[in-house]
Amino acid sequence: MTNAIVTPWEVKGNIDYDKLIKEFGISLLKELPDIFNKNVLFRRKVIFAHRDIQRILEAIKNKKKFVMMTGLMPTGKFHIGHMMLAQQMIFYQKLGAKIYIAVADIEAYNARNQSLEDSRQIAIEQYILNYIALGLKPENCEIYFQSARSKDAEKSNTYYCLQNLLARYATFNEFKAVYGEISPGKMLSALLQASDMLHPQLKEFEGACPVIVPVGIDQDPHIRLARDISQRFKDEKLLQLSSTYHFFMPGLSGGKMSSSDPNSFIALTDTAEEVKKKINKYAFSGGQTTIEEHRKLGGNPDIDVSFQYLRMFFEQDDAALEKIEKDYRSGKLLTGELKAILIEKLNMFLEKHQEEREKAKSKIDKFIFK
Ligand code: TRP
Repeated sequence: MTNAIVTPWEVKGNIDYDKLIKEFGISLLKELPDIFNKNVLFRRKVIFAHRDIQRILEAIKNKKKFVMMTGLMPTGKFHIGHMMLAQQMIFYQKLGAKIYIAVADIEAYNARNQSLEDSRQIAIEQYILNYIALGLKPENCEIYFQSARSKDAEKSNTYYCLQNLLARYATFNEFKAVYGEISPGKMLSALLQASDMLHPQLKEFEGACPVIVPVGIDQDPHIRLARDISQRFKDEKLLQLSSTYHFFMPGLSGGKMSSSDPNSFIALTDTAEEVKKKINKYAFSGGQTTIEEHRKLGGNPDIDVSFQYLRMFFEQDDAALEKIEKDYRSGKLLTGELKAILIEKLNMFLEKHQEEREKAKSKIDKFIFK
């Protein structure tokens, strides 16, 4: 555990979530209204922590305007781990939020040495098409590239202007404390991300209003910085940001899903054959090594990757999931049988999803370069 690295630029090793919650000073999610609990991610505490979510709950209760703002790093293939954030975008859109999504192509340029052209292509083919296929709608939704905020010059100017104005309210020591190591490119990316999160409240956009930023926990340093400097910025009133944090879906063999290792994840474009092969061959099992032992001792669903995928998304029915868990723990359900359940669920989902993804190709222009 001690060798885990969790920074906005790099996530490595086994993440000790409890330690991070304490270190970062975020709160565990407790009681949520029923509309939230209809969603498996909230109901099963896959989204587990927050900062200031009450401001969002109040906006929903009082039918007041609010924004969901988040971003994507356009690298690698879109996999089932990325789907968690996509599901949250769609969830908040259905609740009436205005959706802002930043494609972090400037950050990819500065922190990952990736060209703007590559970022653009990956963002569209891998991310945005899949968001649309999963159900994101063009109404009340702005997807923009950090390198090209808007065709509307006033909007564009004010977004880049905010990035620059915010610089006055951050110190070098603060950057070092929040990020550890820092380069000029990373410093600019952090300020640009602060502008991503804060600019929806400028008068050229929505005006001051509650903004929820759902992210993986690695992004919290960015959120802390943006929250701190937004309160020192006095040119326009900005309400304090709210945020939520989700667990990462484990990679197939445990650890992290890594875009550089296709055997560590299921991509949303994988074929049924690939899914079957990957799950059977690589999905880490919490079962025993022989059938006899498994029947006697039972399996451990808590560390079993196939079970975790079912829990985190692919078995939405609580009663069905509970039965799988009970049978696996007792040894009645074998690892092979558990994997077969997941493969069937996953492939059913992907078959429909891939049809939707084809249809999404003609809709892409409604979403970008507005
Ligand atoms: N840095 C984020 C990542 O690596 C991407 C990002 C850019 C983002 N702007 C954002 C995330 C604003 C949340 C809010 O994934």
